Amino acid sequence: MKILVLGSGAREHAIILSLLAEDAGHDIIAAPGNAGIARDVATASFDINDPVIVANVAIEQAVDLVVIGPEAPLVAGVADELREQGIPVFGPGKAAAQLEGSKTFAKRVMDAAGVPTGRAQRAATIAEAEAALDAFGAPYVVKADGLAAGKGVLVTTDRDAALDHVRTYLPRGSILVEEFLDGHEVSLFLLSDGHRVLPLSPAQDYKRLGDGDAGPNTGGMGAYSPLPWLDETFGTEDAFVDEVIRTIAQPVISQLAEDQTPFIGLLYAGLILTDKRESADDSGIRVIEFNARFGDPETQVVLPRLATPLSSLLYAAATGTLDEADRPEFGMTTAVTVVIASENYPATPITGREITGLDEAGDVEGVHIAHAATATTDGVRLTASGGRVLNVVALGTTAAEARERAYDAIGRIGLEGMQYRSDIAERVATN
Ligand code: AMP
Ligand code: GLY
Repeated sequence: MKILVLGSGAREHAIILSLLAEDAGHDIIAAPGNAGIARDVATASFDINDPVIVANVAIEQAVDLVVIGPEAPLVAGVADELREQGIPVFGPGKAAAQLEGSKTFAKRVMDAAGVPTGRAQRAATIAEAEAALDAFGAPYVVKADGLAAGKGVLVTTDRDAALDHVRTYLPRGSILVEEFLDGHEVSLFLLSDGHRVLPLSPAQDYKRLGDGDAGPNTGGMGAYSPLPWLDETFGTEDAFVDEVIRTIAQPVISQLAEDQTPFIGLLYAGLILTDKRESADDSGIRVIEFNARFGDPETQVVLPRLATPLSSLLYAAATGTLDEADRPEFGMTTAVTVVIASENYPATPITGREITGLDEAGDVEGVHIAHAATATTDGVRLTASGGRVLNVVALGTTAAEARERAYDAIGRIGLEGMQYRSDIAERVATN
């Protein structure tokens, strides 16, 4: 298949590596990609947020499938234009992508579909926000409505800090004050063709910058999959996944279809497993957020474990034929990824510094590198071009083995001022 992948991060690199691993001889073009992606496939440079430009490229290149990685092209309506032109595309249209782009839209859909989520109050003034903060009490959760590149959410016990966050984001639109949900977080990816859903394997993301979940929220500093502790609560991973499909994913997909805004692409359910039980039927799973795309860095640990060809799943979703596909299968391995970020990430990352040791890191058994923000400078030097620079991904027969391999590889990589967490998957690496 000729496949055009839009995006430039480690998520897109992971998607591409997974497509290449099928050994099906796919012809892949990445736009714009990065220096690591360019080592694996052809790259092209054009405005991936312009629907007409993307559609023209897809037509000129006779592309069979377009896979949209990041949210910006989705919200810009790139998928709508491609569908209009009859080009199979994995990624929802502008309307359904509001599930990620607008927290208010997401809450409305969840209400209509009866999906369990935290209570939320919308505020358009400081006074309304203060009333909501006091009604819910501490810890306070304040969310900007709209895309804020992971920086729009503040969870704090400090009421003044919560109000400062309100003051920062109110001028840009309304904000939401939410009930604080306590419990372990799970990211579950679900493929949808607009009607049916098929699940991938759950993963855990580490959102905070520092060890022990200290420091600011980031785009994600590491992840692992699968989550053995799900078995303790739900018996098996499948039992957990089935519960999420029954109470969350299928109702949301059906609601969006009913609203004439079908969701074709990846529904990312960001969940918290609480110990709340409001009825006999309540498993305590609550939605914190939806995204309309693959998560980053979770994709980097989910896809390397996928045994079913990724292209067949994405194509089936894009062409409305998921009902003919079987539930995706996963290997018994554990995958761990640790993100290497630039000095001063997430505030003002220092870029342009040289990266060394990647070949040595890749020599560690079970390890590969997904590039997040890399560039080639002067034609030869590999340099960091953004905040999150690299993902070291390690597979192992146990979590302990995967984790050990990941950190062994990291020790071989050089990048001045680099930051990474040293506690990724520590919780599950017990043997
Ligand atoms: P979001 O961008 O909505 O995923 O939020 C970023 C992070 O903030 C989440 O991964 C959670 O760790 C935390 N968070 C968001 N909403 C809540 C909530 N209602 N209760 C507790 N933590 C939350
Ligand atoms: N890992 C969080 C996200 O992709 O939004």
